[in-house]
Amino acid sequence: MSPAGHLSVGGCDLVELAAEFGTPLVIYDEGLLRANITAYRNAFAAEPGETEVVYASKAYWGRALLRLIEAEGLSIDVASGGELYVAVEAGFPPERIYMHGNNKDAGELTEMLDVGVGTVILDSHEEIGLLSRLASERGMRQRVLVRVTPGVRGDTHEYISTGQVDSKFGFPLADGQAATAIAAAREAPGLEFIGLHAHIGSQLLDLSRLASAAAVMADLAAEVGGEDIAVMNMGGGLGVAYTREHIVPPIAEYAATIVGAVRREWERVGLPAPRVLVEPGRSIVGRAGLHLYTVGAVKRIPDVRTYVSVDGGMSDLLRPMLYGAEYEVIVANRAAENGGEEVRVVGKHCESGDVLAASVKLPQPIAGDLLALPASGAYGISMASNYNGQLRPPVVFVDGGEARLVARREHYSELVAREL
Ligand code: LLP
Repeated sequence: MSPAGHLSVGGCDLVELAAEFGTPLVIYDEGLLRANITAYRNAFAAEPGETEVVYASKAYWGRALLRLIEAEGLSIDVASGGELYVAVEAGFPPERIYMHGNNKDAGELTEMLDVGVGTVILDSHEEIGLLSRLASERGMRQRVLVRVTPGVRGDTHEYISTGQVDSKFGFPLADGQAATAIAAAREAPGLEFIGLHAHIGSQLLDLSRLASAAAVMADLAAEVGGEDIAVMNMGGGLGVAYTREHIVPPIAEYAATIVGAVRREWERVGLPAPRVLVEPGRSIVGRAGLHLYTVGAVKRIPDVRTYVSVDGGMSDLLRPMLYGAEYEVIVANRAAENGGEEVRVVGKHCESGDVLAASVKLPQPIAGDLLALPASGAYGISMASNYNGQLRPPVVFVDGGEARLVARREHYSELVAREL
């Protein structure tokens, strides 16, 4: 908090940032981003055997962040041609890029081969054939992992659980489909099979499911005679504390659980321990980001509810609407005051469901107040849209009292720029 009773982040007073850059505004604490990246690097480096931390860029793929990730020595994954383009634009070394996607098309696979992406995670039978053809036509051998759905559900929202059998991602174990895919990847010209991938879900708070997934993957490795499985990529998923109620395991405990489980399970089936990869997204950027809005209309309906409307909403932070995600709300210009009136914080979109916080206690909010939603740095701005012609907000990195604009606000002209 600043001496004036304003909320501050990275040594910057949020009231001053709002005056300088306008709202809605997305703010990242660069020191915290660095600390999270370093915590991951150190935690995995401290575990036995070889490990690699791969940042899942879908959580937020601004170039300024990708440059930080690069400088700190992490790898990244991309999930589309667009994310790949941004990574290449940011100068990310292609050999440290992992390419995902349950339906990569020939265009994306071609772009990826042209760029020289290090590793592709195969997700479908169609893709094995297509990538094999495209790579062999170029006389290349593309390193690949095979993505498997281990039949383990993450302890999370249905929309972000991916490890269960009923999923569009990866090869199921049923009918030996995963084993068939591994055999195909081993034999396909143009492909070099190096290992397996499993991602059971996102916003995980219970690490035991990851250990179960490791056991399933080791059984599969044994079944397919997996001496050539050099890599076991366990995906991302470590949760973050969005509200005071969330209890999140520390990164070091997550690292010890995953690496320990993979090594133990591989030993159980009598195979040499693979290099263990993880793909954290949310847990690197989530708590480092904050959305800042200005209050406009305050509608008090006696004995019913108070609606506090802000100048953004579902176009810049869709998670509450899509997953029922909860965020804390702080009146940034009166941060010392708390409690008070129970209100519903809503956006400015033409949708009743445009609710940012269904029920929070705020100190008598009035027009002109600034509302901060902390821990909104993951899947906020990266899922932003132009719904209702709303302009996507600027992004500012703050550090040591300095603010650096890394993305400007959109212009109205950009709303028609693509129209012919
Ligand atoms: N690896 C793979 C293959 C993934 O599909 C994902 C997330 C990650 C890594 C990173 O997971 P994380 O560490 O961020 O949990 N929009 C949703 C989350 C979708 C996650 C998609 N995949 C949300 O806002 O909760």
